[in-house]
Amino acid sequence: MNDPTKVDAPLVDPDVVAQIKTWKGYVEAKLGFRNCWYPSLNSEEVEEGKPVPFLLAGEKLLLNRIDGKVYCMSDTCLHRGVPLSEKVECYSKDTITCWYHGWTYDFKDGKLCDILTDPNSKMIGNRALQTYQVEEAKGLLFIYLGDLDEGEQPPALERDVPPGFLEADRRVRPFRRQVNSDWRLGAENGFDTTHIFIHKDSKLIIGNETMLPLGFAPPPGKMNDLWDRVETDAGQQGVYDRLADHGVPHFEGKIDGEVVLKAIYGGDKRIAGEISLWMPGALKVDPFPDPEMIHFEWYVPRDEKSHWYVHCATKVVPGEQGDESFGREYDAVWKDMYAHGFNDDDIWAREATQDFYDDDYGWLDETLFESDACIIAWRKLASETNHGIQTRVRDRKR
Ligand code: FES
Ligand SMILES: [Fe+2]
Repeated sequence: MNDPTKVDAPLVDPDVVAQIKTWKGYVEAKLGFRNCWYPSLNSEEVEEGKPVPFLLAGEKLLLNRIDGKVYCMSDTCLHRGVPLSEKVECYSKDTITCWYHGWTYDFKDGKLCDILTDPNSKMIGNRALQTYQVEEAKGLLFIYLGDLDEGEQPPALERDVPPGFLEADRRVRPFRRQVNSDWRLGAENGFDTTHIFIHKDSKLIIGNETMLPLGFAPPPGKMNDLWDRVETDAGQQGVYDRLADHGVPHFEGKIDGEVVLKAIYGGDKRIAGEISLWMPGALKVDPFPDPEMIHFEWYVPRDEKSHWYVHCATKVVPGEQGDESFGREYDAVWKDMYAHGFNDDDIWAREATQDFYDDDYGWLDETLFESDACIIAWRKLASETNHGIQTRVRDRKR
């Protein structure tokens, strides 16, 4: 049994990993993947010269903006391991000084460039904190959580975002929440078509004149038509859930042949026609929550038991005023009806799932049904196409 309170305990129970045959890498990825881009804070959250901490995939990081460009380095002092962000002390534009004994690091390369309490220490110039590259896109700060040799460039951001996200004139409103569940329970909640059952009384249905069935059932004998696995020219790896196309929608729930529940009819607007899940863990729902909009959401590993839920309402609005005009529409209509009125349902569903998977045995004890075929397809894709599994910082040093 995995005991997370013990430093030496393995991240994932080896007994569970040994029993999974075709998607081992996914079970091992409790902290997500390495050598890929993850979204983190929103651009406006990192102001010039004001370092901000962010916990990503078990790593305490610090982001700072210097002359407009954002840099990211470890937030753990090399000396005694305290978070630099506990008390920010920056005495020059490019550096941060540890509040405890004065070790000073350069944000651009992480190097220990001075020690204010011992300027002759041999450590100076010979040690460095881990740094990660940052790219700003669509109001989000993406971090390349990977290991690069000196001078080596990371892969293009496009590889690790769903198709269409970076489209010109696509206006994006990101919204980040902490969810207390493993990131994979988030990804599978978003991708799992029959989970729309939890949204059956969402205020979006009436508010936006649409309707959602209670669920979709796969037609008998069509199990292999329920998903498509794709790789794009940009190297994006994803799975499309075809249940909404090929499955049979159910608008009435029955027990013993008696109708006990009916889907609410809000109107005829058609949404959520195409649902796909992309590496390293981002969902695309097209269109959603309105026929002109596309919804993207990331499940960014935070630590072993929580993730950042970064969801993005998006719409193509051309013109110089496009961003401002979509911002007004989002604040007036979508923030309440969709971001809270719909997506909040998913948060408590994921948190309610965590306990069962907490000691890793949920991956063996779950009982999946026919509609979950796309989830297995996703687990296999993630196992086969990732560029590395994220481990604990401490485990990497040993
Ligand atoms: S712990 Fe940071 S300088 Fe000592
Ligand atoms: Fe949902």
